[in-house]
Amino acid sequence: MTSIEKGLADVSDTMTTNALLTSLKNVRRMARNALPDQPPDFSTFISPPELIAQDIASPRSELERIFYAHKGRLIHKWTHYFEIYESHLSQYRNTTVRMLEIGVSQGGSLELWRSYLGSKATIFGVDIDAQCADRVDAPNQVRIGSQDDPEFLKRVVAEMGGVDIVLDDGSHVAEHQIASYNTLFPLLREGGLYMIEDLHTSYWRGFSGGYRRQGAGIEFIKDIVDDMHGWYHTHAARTPSKDQVGAVHMYDSLAVIEKRAQPRPRRTTSPV
Ligand SMILES: C[S@@+](CC[C@H](N)C(=O)[O-])C[C@H]1O[C@@H](n2cnc3c(N)ncnc32)[C@H](O)[C@@H]1O
Repeated sequence: MTSIEKGLADVSDTMTTNALLTSLKNVRRMARNALPDQPPDFSTFISPPELIAQDIASPRSELERIFYAHKGRLIHKWTHYFEIYESHLSQYRNTTVRMLEIGVSQGGSLELWRSYLGSKATIFGVDIDAQCADRVDAPNQVRIGSQDDPEFLKRVVAEMGGVDIVLDDGSHVAEHQIASYNTLFPLLREGGLYMIEDLHTSYWRGFSGGYRRQGAGIEFIKDIVDDMHGWYHTHAARTPSKDQVGAVHMYDSLAVIEKRAQPRPRRTTSPV
């Protein structure tokens, strides 16, 4: 008997309306979770050479220009991310900003951030793959550990002397994204940014995702939105964000969360 059949078998003639509704909701949830939620054909997203040539000829942001001029270690990025990053990060160029990127891979993105943010920035990467320790040049730094290890993340942030920007481009597995956020958002300085890349993985089972599946990364972002509106409902906060989120910017696959302590909202009336 499948879990859905078992759920349906639980629906008996003698059930109260409430129990019946709960049972049917459970069946609906199980049916949703049973869907395959496989990634679409990834090759359809690869930018064709003629569009890459166009992007190189007419970059839509300074970050995109730097990306295509980059000659160092390998980087992969979705093309629409450049303008979004620039709109949030340009304010930090040539400042003493402290940025932590989760997910180093070949090491190229740390180099990109260095070129974009400038020599005064503190830039750290963390990765679970020990080989990443060799894919970095000072002053950038890499530390090896898992993004779901709170003590490891806390040690890295202490070493950085605090953190202004976090970019989660790590495993893209929901539990990891949530664990990192729960540790790092409280450590982020007031006015800082928390960014999570590639949230399309939230729709895929291989990343603990699934369409509207409880626990998926994008559902966690929706929890943050609910917590931001905690003034207006009586449900307990689900994330360490209540009163602390100034804005949640949700783009295609990329969330940018602004940390800004919020006073109680006030409604006003124009003078008569
Ligand atoms: C998408 S790649 C990072 C790409 C890089 N940020 C870039 O733009 O070039 C993901 C990286 O996350 C790392 N990773 C996977 N699981 C991890 C975990 N639990 N903690 C930290 N890093 C992890 C992988 O080893 C891999 O290097």
